[in-house]
Amino acid sequence: MKELVSEAKAFIEQFYIENDKTGAGMRLREIQEEIAETGTYTHTKEELVFGAKLAWRNSNRCIGRLFWNSLNVFDERDASTGDEVLDALERHLAYASNEGRIRPAITVFRPSQPGEPDIRIWNHQLLRYAGYKVGGGVMGDPHSIDFTEKCEALGWEGEKTDFDLLPFVVKIGEDSPQWRPIRKDLVLEVDLRHPEYEWFTDLGLKWYGVPVISDMELKVGGISYKAAPFNGWYMETEIGARNLADVERYNLLPKVASCMGLDTTRAITLWKDKALVELNIAVLHSFKEDGVSIVDHHTAAQQFRLYEENEKSAGREVTGDWAWLIPPVSPAATHIFHKAYDNTWKSTNYFYQDKPY
Ligand code: ARG
Repeated sequence: MKELVSEAKAFIEQFYIENDKTGAGMRLREIQEEIAETGTYTHTKEELVFGAKLAWRNSNRCIGRLFWNSLNVFDERDASTGDEVLDALERHLAYASNEGRIRPAITVFRPSQPGEPDIRIWNHQLLRYAGYKVGGGVMGDPHSIDFTEKCEALGWEGEKTDFDLLPFVVKIGEDSPQWRPIRKDLVLEVDLRHPEYEWFTDLGLKWYGVPVISDMELKVGGISYKAAPFNGWYMETEIGARNLADVERYNLLPKVASCMGLDTTRAITLWKDKALVELNIAVLHSFKEDGVSIVDHHTAAQQFRLYEENEKSAGREVTGDWAWLIPPVSPAATHIFHKAYDNTWKSTNYFYQDKPY
C-alpha cells in the first residue's frame, strides 16, 4: 500500500509536469483517499493515455521509440465478459491493420484490483502461427508449440500447415478459458517473394503484417494492467533475420542458401550471411509492394537517433538495452553499435509476466 502510494505519486507528478498541468497536489490527495478506501486507485483517461505512451518511451529494448507519443490508446476497462474482451481484440486488430497503413495502438483492459478477477490473454501475440510436433521435427512455428497444445486441448483444430493462425484465448478469473478463431477478414498477411529470384515465391513463405504483443504487463504508477495488447509495425530483421532464420524457429537459411546455389558445406563461403541478406530483401520488397508498413534496420536506427536527440532536448536521459537495440543484421553499420546505453528500467513500463497456463 505504501509502495502503491509512492509509485502513484511519482507517476502523477511526472504526468502533471510533462503536460504543464497544475493541480497535482489535489489529485494526489484524491488518490490517497481512494487507496485508503479501496486498496487501489483509478487512472483518469488522460493519465492512462500518458502512462501507456510513457511505458513505450521507457522500453529499453525498443528501437522504434521515436513514435512513442503517437500511440493510440483504447480504454476498454469496462469490458468484463470474455465476449467483450474478444470483441475488443478484433477491433484492435482492425484499427491497427488499417489496410496496411499500420497504426501503433494499445487496448487496455481493467487492471488487477481487489475483488475483481484478473483478465488474461493467453496468446503471446494476437497473430501467431501454430507449431506442431510431428515425427522427430516440427511443423509451423516451434515458438508456439506449448500454446498450440493448449488451444487443441480447448477444442481448436488447425489445418496443419506451416502458417496456421492460432485463435484468441482469454481467461477471466476462475472461469474456463474462452477462445475464438481469428477472423480471416481482419488479418493482413504478406506472401514473400524476391525482387530478383523468381524461385523465391515457390518457397511458399509468408508472414503476418501486424505484431501485437499480448502477454506483457503494462505497469503505470503502481497499477498493473495484465491485459494490454499493443502493436507497432515490423522492422524487417524481426522476420527475415529471426523468425524465419533462427535455428529454433523456421530455420530457413540452409534452404534459401541452397536455392541460391551456394556451397553450404563450408562456413567460409559466408552462405548464411548471403542467405540472410536476401531473405531480408524479400521481406522488405514484399511488404512494400503490398502496401504494408515496415521499416528497414538502417532507417529504424536513424529514427532512434532522432529519438535520442529529442529526449536530450527535453532534458531526459535515454535508457536502453544495447544487446536488443542493435539490429541482428549489420549492427556495426548503425550508430547504436558504437555507443553505450544505460539499461536502468523505469517503473512505468511493459514487463514480462508469468504464463497464465
Ligand atoms: N519480434 C517480435 C516478432 O518478430 C515482435 C516484437 C514487436 N515488434 C515490433 N516491431 N513492434 O514477432
